Amino acid sequence: MNDVSALLYLVASVLFILALKGLSSPATARRGNILGIAGMVIAIATTLSMPAIENYAMILFGIMIGGIFGTVIARKIAMTAMPQLVAAFHSLVGLAAVLIASAALYAPESYGIGNSGNIHAGSLLEMSLGAVIGAITFTGSIIAFAKLQGILSGKPLRFSGQNMVNALLGLSLILLILLFCITESKFLFILMVLLSFALGVLLIVPIGGADMPVVVSMLNSYSGWAASGIGFTLGNPLLIITGALVGASGAILSYIMCKAMNRSIINVIFGGFGAHAQAASIVGDASDKPVKSGSAEDAAFLLKNSSSVIIVPGYGMAVAQAQHAVREMAEELEKEGIKVRYAIHPVAGRMPGHMNVLLAEANVPYDSVVELEEINNDFSTTDVAFVIGANDVTNPAAKNNPSSPIFGMPVLDVGSAKTVIFVKRGMAAGYAGIENELFYQDNTMMLFGDAKKVTEALVKALKA
Ligand code: TAP
Repeated sequence: MNDVSALLYLVASVLFILALKGLSSPATARRGNILGIAGMVIAIATTLSMPAIENYAMILFGIMIGGIFGTVIARKIAMTAMPQLVAAFHSLVGLAAVLIASAALYAPESYGIGNSGNIHAGSLLEMSLGAVIGAITFTGSIIAFAKLQGILSGKPLRFSGQNMVNALLGLSLILLILLFCITESKFLFILMVLLSFALGVLLIVPIGGADMPVVVSMLNSYSGWAASGIGFTLGNPLLIITGALVGASGAILSYIMCKAMNRSIINVIFGGFGAHAQAASIVGDASDKPVKSGSAEDAAFLLKNSSSVIIVPGYGMAVAQAQHAVREMAEELEKEGIKVRYAIHPVAGRMPGHMNVLLAEANVPYDSVVELEEINNDFSTTDVAFVIGANDVTNPAAKNNPSSPIFGMPVLDVGSAKTVIFVKRGMAAGYAGIENELFYQDNTMMLFGDAKKVTEALVKALKA
């Protein structure tokens, strides 16, 4: 690589780092995206201008196919289906790593890593690591996709001796990598990839739906490390840096999410966390407990007569696209001198930052959007907690029911507000499939209906 290319790769790497920094807050996310795009344009242009590139037609053809698919999917996909899309994309990164490692093994001369039967030892190690991590990412991401898409059940799938099987597979893989580096046997390479495919499946199937967000971010991290490993095989420093950035930021995000959900990061890495969760625990029998429900007018009356309101958005608000109506409702209340804030749970919705993005899209001011740990103590001095399309993130079972799949996860203490209004269509459970005892609490009023329609009716009642 010449000096100019090296310099341009360095510029692209710096732009990627600045992009990540920008993406860490909704206020700077747009700028972060633009910096990331600029970095990628420089990276692709620099790579394409290298003398080793001979066949432009084939590359353009590949970019066209990928570009068309990517554009159509990105335009069509609902925001609520983003986690499964991300999981599906990670699977492709994993598969690409496996394919590149295989190509390097079968045609090492093209990669400048030696001759067939005489590949440099360092390259053999890099390609086996890239292939193993890539293969685990590939099948693990497919399972995550199937669970998030509802093709497979979100319940943890466990069998006895599962941890032992995983540990044996892990040890066999380490042994196979060593033997492969010594013998360069193609048979061992194929065996290694097949065992890694199996390990990817076994690591993800025991993980329950409520823990899926962390899994997706962990697979993101794995895909980064796989790309980085392949960067060594290809001798491409930018791929090494970019892969490491994705790997490290995915790992940090997983760590933050684990902390937010009170889960152990070690259990996530080795699969089977949430394993303590039995089948979804049902708190009492839903059918025979009385529930208070009211109309939009009743809710408007309660809200109008309060002095402070905390809005708790969740997945249902995203499905109904009710964020604009919610902002309008908040504005009506603020006109009356009522203090309105939004409480954000780190895993509300179906992806990290889901609620922040929706509220930003509806032009809700950033300073009224408050994270869980900063606002949780304020519920006890708040008149109305207005919970819209959220369920698991408010469920006290996380604190008082050790057999619950969400036990240990911090939750928003909406129940301690003077009045709780739950907006949802019926009595259905949330993502984790467990009942929420708050629905039956004396200070709770259920406001049944689609989140958008109900909020619009509420705004009308507030204006009347
Ligand atoms: P959930 O617990 O899933 O509850 C959402 C509620 O919204 C449901 O109970 C549903 O009840 C209601 N709903 C659905 N459509 C609606 C509509 N059109 N109008 C009104 N209500 C509607 O959501 P949450 O409280 O946001 O918790 C998130 C859950 O998802 C957690 O368990 C979390 O672990 C998991 N998860 C999170 C992520 C990330 S990273 N955020 C990713 C994957 C999974 P009805 O059917 O009765 O209306």
